[in-house]
Amino acid sequence: MADVKITVRPNGPYRVEGPVTLVDHEGKEWDLTGKAAFSLCRCGASVNKPFCDGTHSKIGFQAAEAAVRAENNLTTPGDPTMPVKI
Ligand code: FES
Repeated sequence: MADVKITVRPNGPYRVEGPVTLVDHEGKEWDLTGKAAFSLCRCGASVNKPFCDGTHSKIGFQAAEAAVRAENNLTTPGDPTMPVKI
């Protein structure tokens, strides 16, 4: 079984690498033939959902974990469900 890697891009999308099946709310699969990697929109502003189209940078999207980290004076990433105060 091959590994799937999902990278949270700073103030951007989720970068997905590896063999995956992507389905919509009705269970319909997207054709990902030939795509070794793709990015999923996290900001909600893409006109090509669920994929990122770069709009996040135009609207100045700030990821929630960054905002929470700044508000709580946290400086290092960690388990998002259990933020650690430094
Ligand atoms: S994360 Fe890129 S358009 Fe939404």
